[in-house]
Order: sequence, then C-alpha cells, then structure tokens
Amino acid sequence: MRVLSGIQPSGRLHIGNYFGAMRQHLELQKEHEGFYFIADYHALTSSPEPKALAQYTLDVAMDYLALGLDAEKTVFWRQSDVPEVTELTWLLSCITPMGLLQRCTSYKDKIEQGLSPNHGLFAYPVLQAADILIFNSNLVPVGADQKQHIEVARDIAIRFNNAYGEILTLPKEHILESVAVVPGIDGRKMSKSYGNTIEIFDSEKEIKKKVMRIVTDSTPVEQPKDPEKCNVFALLKLVAAPDELKEWENKYREGGTGYGDVKKRLVELLIEYFAPYRQKRMELGKDIGYVRSVLSNGARRAASVASVTLAKARDAVGLGAKNV
Ligand code: ADP
Ligand code: TRP
Repeated sequence: MRVLSGIQPSGRLHIGNYFGAMRQHLELQKEHEGFYFIADYHALTSSPEPKALAQYTLDVAMDYLALGLDAEKTVFWRQSDVPEVTELTWLLSCITPMGLLQRCTSYKDKIEQGLSPNHGLFAYPVLQAADILIFNSNLVPVGADQKQHIEVARDIAIRFNNAYGEILTLPKEHILESVAVVPGIDGRKMSKSYGNTIEIFDSEKEIKKKVMRIVTDSTPVEQPKDPEKCNVFALLKLVAAPDELKEWENKYREGGTGYGDVKKRLVELLIEYFAPYRQKRMELGKDIGYVRSVLSNGARRAASVASVTLAKARDAVGLGAKNV
C-alpha cells in the first residue's frame, strides 16, 4: 500500500505537527511504501519571504530525518522538484466544479487569519489532489483539519475517471482521532499561524518558558479540577505513560494540585520525549549537503512515478503527441 503525505514549510515544526501528523507518517513508513514531501508550492500561497521559505524547507527536511524518516526506504522530496504535479493540477482544474472549492472551509479560515485572497489559496485543494493522485496514493495520513481536502481529492479522481477512464487511484484519508487536535499554549489549535506553538526542537529553556505560559483557568490549588478541560493535561496525555497519566487525572479530580506542578512535569516529559532526536538534529544541521542529497534522490524517485501518471492523464484528455 502506498502512503503519501505532505507538510508545508511555513514555519518551524511544532508538537501539533508531530503528534497530529508526523508521528503517523514515521510509523506508517515501517509497514508501507512511504511517499512524503515538503509542500513548498503550497506554502507559496501564504506569500512567504523567499529566504524564509528556503530555510523552512531545509528545517522541515532536517526535522523529519532527525525524527526517524528512513531515507533509504521512504521516498522524501521537495514538492517543487517534481513540477509534473503542477501540470496535472491544470488537467484536474478543468474538471473541478467551482462549487466544490467554494465549499472548502480552509480558504475562508485562512482569509480570516489575514492571508491575502489570492487564486493559489483558493485553488490549493486542486494542487493537493494532484499531489495525491499523481503518485497513485492509497492512504493519506493527515490531521483532522485536512479531511475535507482528501475528500475533495477523491471526488476529483472520480470525476476524472468518469470522464476519461480508470486512470486515477482513489485515495483514503487516515486520521488518528485520539490526537486529532493538539492545543497551543493559548488553548486554540496549535498552529504556526497563531504564534502559540511549542516547537519540536525548541531549546529546553524555550520549552520551559512556553509551557509555563500555557493558559489555564483560575481554579484555586485546593479545589478539584476537570482534566478534560485543561490545556496542560491535553499535552500531558501525549507524552506521559498511561500509569502516570492516571495519577495526574486523580490528582486533578481530588484537588490540592496546582497547574504549576503539572506544567513542571510536562516540561520534563517533553524534553525527555524528544531527547533521543536532538543529537541527530544537530548533526544534520552541520551536514546540509547530505540533506540536499536525500531530497534530490527522493525527487528523482518521485518523478519516475509522477511522469507515468501524468503521461496517461495527458493522453486521456487528448493532449500530447499520441493525440495529434
Ligand atoms: P500549521 O497549522 O501549524 O500551519 P499545517 O497546516 O502545516 O500546520 O499542518 C501540517 C500537518 O500537521 C497537517 O497534517 C495537520 O493536520 C497537522 N497539524 C497541524 N497542527 C495540528 C494540531 N494542532 N493538532 C493536530 N494536528 C495538527
Ligand atoms: N495541505 C496540507 C497541509 O496544510 C499539506 C499538503 C499538501 C498535503 N499536499 C498534500 C497533505 C497532499 C497530504 C497530501 O497540511
């Protein structure tokens, strides 16, 4: 089975990205054929600084490799190194009803966040569909916020196949519901665009500073608290062993434990959780040549699959040498 996913280089990766998406990618690569890419064409829709886009792209690559992406087995590349997807995007655009895109909530959400309403941002789900379909992907592991985009990809594939024959493979989303949304330090969804993140490779000092700032309610120390309503507990759930979590849950319900104590433990656990990957991340930072070689090798392997699907799609719609 082919598992594909992309992640935008729109900032340093945070623990929401890790628990909501990357951890599953890394897990799934063991059993399946992993195709993972850095979605830099998608990141362009939010008008990044050119230098920042390049830096974040390298950062994402190093984060994935440090966290255990197996570059021998898994195909890992930069989206824009396989420009075939932009051509398939156009073929798909021409059979995508406007209404389908108008129903996508992410466009409205992003405009509300202050992004410029450019056409790329509106047409973003079609590029995402091309990403998925050009590699004949079966399963697409993503966070819950991306579910609609995978449904759009499937819908577009059905329309294309109905119009031109069985060319595209229908994908399915894979969502880990239990960690569907990781809250940020302000209690909203953790997101690069909200400035409420705890980054995976933040310094220990920075992790501590951010955890101490996590928003909690003002229940006095001695009173019982509801763990399910607490942002600190939501993060604790991701990194604490089940037994320890149960203990904290009891402490919340009994009262007598302050949020400060839970935060201190959360800092320790977060540092412990990512400690094994820190050294590797530092080494990669000093060997950019290696990181670049992984990406170009991945692009070559990805392009060899993409070019076959694109050629079939071109033929089917009546383009290309075969048709004239
Ligand atoms: P951001 O909102 O920080 O820009 P992206 O939109 O680039 O993050 O998301 C990259 C991947 O990480 C997606 O699969 C997305 O669903 C997942 N993801 C992002 N933030 C969270 C979160 N707070 N909780 C769970 N998953 C998340
Ligand atoms: N839109 C996804 C996000 O913001 C990134 C992405 C681009 C993607 N192309 C994809 C995810 C294809 C899965 C499959 O997170």
